[in-house]
Amino acid sequence: MPTTAQEIATLRKERNAVILAHNYVTGDIQDIADFTGDSLELSIRAKEIKAPVIVFCGVRFMAETAKLLSPHSTVLLPNLYSGCPMADMADPSEVAAYRKANPDTVLVAYVNSTAEVKAQVDICCTSGNAEKIIRSIPPEKKIMFLPDRNLGANMRNKLNRPMELWEGFCPTHNKVTVEMVREARRLHPEAEVLVHPECTPEVVAEADDSLSTGGILRHVRESAKTQFIIGTETGILHRLQKENPGREFFCLQPEMLCPNMKKITLREVADALADMRNVIELSPELMERAVLPIERMLAVK
Ligand code: 13P
Ligand code: SF4
Repeated sequence: MPTTAQEIATLRKERNAVILAHNYVTGDIQDIADFTGDSLELSIRAKEIKAPVIVFCGVRFMAETAKLLSPHSTVLLPNLYSGCPMADMADPSEVAAYRKANPDTVLVAYVNSTAEVKAQVDICCTSGNAEKIIRSIPPEKKIMFLPDRNLGANMRNKLNRPMELWEGFCPTHNKVTVEMVREARRLHPEAEVLVHPECTPEVVAEADDSLSTGGILRHVRESAKTQFIIGTETGILHRLQKENPGREFFCLQPEMLCPNMKKITLREVADALADMRNVIELSPELMERAVLPIERMLAVK
């Protein structure tokens, strides 16, 4: 009897499929993926991919982005219930009303947003390129940053650029407190503290650096330090430990779990491939509009 991983290997060949995984999904899925990365890296991969089938192991907005950038591929999301609560905090009708009332404001949407919201904004960004994207907007322009008030405030502080912020947040990152950072430092005084910019500005100020998940992996690779306190979803520990033997990683908060990222199982990946089920469907009109801010983001040099 073949294992589920062997079943996936056979089906992947039959379907000529590529499996993409986010750094937060469970280790067994990261291990069978063709590519594991952060939102920006996965967007770039999705655009390059010519495969007829993409299995996206992450949350819905990521699979939608893959579909927008690879419109001729069939994109499967193994568990259609893996959403992102932060993305759902920007309601498309409220964004439309804001746009109407503020026609001169540039709307910058974190890629953690629905396709319906992307269809109404000027440009997207990820945590890996937010700084570059905001710098590309002429300084005299007003900006509304949505939906993550924390990433927005962290960029506002870093770039000293006024921006209006939407009231969204990531429940997983928003619950980290300054006291947690201090306690982790007390326990591991030699360790470098790396957090995700979806944490609050107070937590970011207390950390040594704030980086995207891909940025954390690169930073550790290039660092001379041997101990790290990691302030993001614990799924990233899988790659950190695998790629950096001999170094020590401590979770800033062991409960930093994204329940949605953890919904996908190997069984669901196999079933999605076997039955070609859980296809991401977006109307052609929506796709035409929603891809524009992502293309603009990728075009910023
Ligand atoms: P990254 O783009 O840094 O991987 O982050 C995605 C995300 O959802 C963080 O919560
Ligand atoms: Fe959304 Fe937060 Fe999960 Fe990232 S970690 S997918 S922002 S809920």
